[in-house]
Amino acid sequence: MLPDAENAGAFHSLAAALESPATDESPAQAIRRMAGGFAMTQVLHAAARAGIADALGDDAQGAAELASVLELHPHALERFLRMMVVLGLLEQENATDFRLSATGQLLRADHPLSMRNRILYIGAINYPAASAALHAVRTGQPAFDHVFGKPFFDHLAEQPELGGFFNELMKRGVDGRVAGIVQARDFSRANHIVDIGGGNGALLSAILTQASQSRGAIFDTAAVIAEARERLEGTAAGGRIDLIEGDLFHGDYPQGADLYLLSNIIHDWNDAQAATILRHCVSAMPRGATLVLIEELMPEQAADSPATIANDYSMLLLTGGQERTEAQYGALLERSGLTLATVTPFAIETCDDRRKGNWALLECHAR
Ligand SMILES: C[S@@+](CC[C@H](N)C(=O)[O-])C[C@H]1O[C@@H](n2cnc3c(N)ncnc32)[C@H](O)[C@@H]1O
Repeated sequence: MLPDAENAGAFHSLAAALESPATDESPAQAIRRMAGGFAMTQVLHAAARAGIADALGDDAQGAAELASVLELHPHALERFLRMMVVLGLLEQENATDFRLSATGQLLRADHPLSMRNRILYIGAINYPAASAALHAVRTGQPAFDHVFGKPFFDHLAEQPELGGFFNELMKRGVDGRVAGIVQARDFSRANHIVDIGGGNGALLSAILTQASQSRGAIFDTAAVIAEARERLEGTAAGGRIDLIEGDLFHGDYPQGADLYLLSNIIHDWNDAQAATILRHCVSAMPRGATLVLIEELMPEQAADSPATIANDYSMLLLTGGQERTEAQYGALLERSGLTLATVTPFAIETCDDRRKGNWALLECHAR
């Protein structure tokens, strides 16, 4: 079982929305808790950006000393540190000195379960995008584009550090799913597996570790392929993986494999864009090849799968995609020249039922 900090995988990071409130919370307390979320995000974000946890390490320090190391305003920092105490991130030793609590330790870059990069990503991406939720609800257009003036993946491509954080979050998500995926399906039956939008290679290398005689290819943007190259170099599976730069919407996908994967891809896009990607897969697939989608299935009732609903809301804010029901996937595949053959649910590794989601492998064939 993965520790919780490792496992909150999804890039949308609406983790706070999934935390169970106290059972005896009154309606007014519930509204106050929700309304205060903005301040908590920014305390975490400012603390991570300023490097407070790394500078404190295992020691207790006063605001004046810390401010001089980090080039911050001493009095303002002292007030900020007190707020970190109130949120449980710091403990106060005496009138002047503060040290990290067990929770605050997770903001250190060198902690084995560090959540620092996740916080930097949320502060730079999710937080500003969420401020335009009303725009998304009014127009149906992604809040992200409204705030940043460009689509989500274009922005990540221009911001290598944030792109790296995103790829790392994706990898953590894959780490929580991969055991369920390889249990749900035997990939060793395929000779050649192409992972379209395969990111930094976390999924394909895990699959090829199981399918030890198979070869594979990852197709993704130039920046992500460069990261995959670095990550996979020297690994056992890496020698069997070709890395191919390309654009999901240009359709130059690698031809001739017997298995194509689209993991966590179709939910990023609206129906028209998703159909374009699926048709490009059909064009690349030889007769008899299989396409496997790895996605969450939208539940009928929101309460049945809170994690799926949170991811769907993130798609509304960030990319304009959506989570879909099995019937919606069936119809989308049908329109794109594919037939849905089997749906195999699988479980992700998590210690928290509310984060489980509703994951499945959707196996399909070109008509
Ligand atoms: C949500 S991530 C999924 C990554 C991985 N497949 C997984 O299961 O975690 C979406 C992937 O699609 C890639 N992507 C987005 N737009 C793309 C485009 N226009 N062309 C190629 N790849 C693209 C991203 O770089 C990213 O690796």
